[in-house]
Amino acid sequence: MNIAVFASGRGSNFLAILDAIDAGFIPAQIVVLISNKSDAGAMESARAHRIPVRHLTQKMFESEEALADAMLSELAKHHTEFIVLAGYLKKIPAKVIRQYQNRIINIHPALLPSFGGEGMYGHRVHESVIASGEKISGATVHLVDEEFDRGPIVLQQTVAVDADDTPESLAAKVLKVEHKIFPLVLKAFAEGRVKVEGRKAWIMSSF
Ligand code: GRF
Repeated sequence: MNIAVFASGRGSNFLAILDAIDAGFIPAQIVVLISNKSDAGAMESARAHRIPVRHLTQKMFESEEALADAMLSELAKHHTEFIVLAGYLKKIPAKVIRQYQNRIINIHPALLPSFGGEGMYGHRVHESVIASGEKISGATVHLVDEEFDRGPIVLQQTVAVDADDTPESLAAKVLKVEHKIFPLVLKAFAEGRVKVEGRKAWIMSSF
């Protein structure tokens, strides 16, 4: 399965996926990394691993459609079959979502549908979880549709929120879980074990 990764930041999920591919856990390859930030850590890592990178932002284009066309042509150039959003902070243009329907996943550092939506990213998520007094949080992998953080959920894993947790310590716990479940979900997609029906998605076991 040819995967394109979209990332805006440090890229630890991107590296976790790359490691899982290199270890033979996911039968796939990352064919291109697309970022809206030319100095993203993920861009550096991709270059270091000789993965093609492409910097694309809305500012370079006159319309969302033009940005979408540039993304689609980059994706086609690398024969992309599947898209992974690994800390990508911009909305994916609707035209791209339509073309890759049910073939785009995102990871969110909380248990959706709670603590998601526009503007809910980074430490804001963990601050809100702690402020609301939740005893559990976690990570969610979901399919991407045209609304932020609302597509069908594929997999979630919980972590305990301890009384002395800070947004930083909670983020670190959740990130560990992200690095586990993102490769698991991608493996299932690459092996054709994910079923999507309407608003529901689930993984079929391999045994
Ligand atoms: C992760 O917490 C992910 O859940 C969110 O953005 C963060 C990206 O971290 N969508 P990294 O760039 O993969 O290290």
